Amino acid sequence: MLERASGLDRAGLVSRLTDPVATRTADFVLGMVERRRRGEPLQYVLGLWGFRRLELVVDRRVLIPRPETETVVDVALAELDGLGAGRPLVVDLGTGSGAIAISLALEVPRARVWGTDRSEAALAVARANLAGMGGRVAPRVRLAAGDWFDALPEELRGQVDMIVANPPYVGEEEVLPAEVAEWEPAGALVAGPTGLEAVADILAGAPAWLRRPGVVVVELAPHQAEVATGLAVDAGFGPVDVRPDLAGRPRALVGRLRA
Ligand SMILES: C[S@@+](CC[C@H](N)C(=O)[O-])C[C@H]1O[C@@H](n2cnc3c(N)ncnc32)[C@H](O)[C@@H]1O
Repeated sequence: MLERASGLDRAGLVSRLTDPVATRTADFVLGMVERRRRGEPLQYVLGLWGFRRLELVVDRRVLIPRPETETVVDVALAELDGLGAGRPLVVDLGTGSGAIAISLALEVPRARVWGTDRSEAALAVARANLAGMGGRVAPRVRLAAGDWFDALPEELRGQVDMIVANPPYVGEEEVLPAEVAEWEPAGALVAGPTGLEAVADILAGAPAWLRRPGVVVVELAPHQAEVATGLAVDAGFGPVDVRPDLAGRPRALVGRLRA
């Protein structure tokens, strides 16, 4: 919080700890401390959070980008490389802050990326993050509102090289930590009674939008890996596997459609 208010990095802050500060800066820090004391997640209090190479604007309109999702982007990058598409067309369904979509556009310089979300409020945050990226990335990212594939223009049907998603995957009966349940948007977390509803919708809908070869990468909860693999096979994907996150838990389902 002190780094955020002062604009200094940690080393700079330590070297200037005894400097006086403007009242406005002190008020900013005290305001942040009070919000944190009331239980608001640090990421929302700061209003900025790191994701891979990005520093993203985050607030209560969007899920806080997680380290697991950084691993999902690693998986997506490797799969995209394997496809060998010259100017790959990628769709990030449920883009939230834009973390996945903007990272892919930044890290794959020739990729064209669509980020979609049902929440207009979330898309406003993604738009702000995209605007902060400047000319090398922003022109290659399009944002669109709507329910999963409904957000995409018809002409993309059968043209997409990769679909990536970190959809809601919590079940209605699951108990979440208070800092998550009370602060993060329910629509970004809870999928429905079983928790697998959004994953199932995406896997069932993806083949119609993918080119051959094409690939889907979907983040899920470790306990969903087996059932989700079955759903992917039923939708026509093969081979299907689930890659681990940094803690070694199954996290990113990869389903391929052969040429
Ligand atoms: C788990 S968050 C992921 C956000 C971001 N991609 C990330 O990884 O940090 C899920 C996102 O999906 C969106 N979403 C939920 N249901 C949706 C639906 N039916 N159609 C489109 N987006 C949806 C939510 O608004 C939310 O932004």
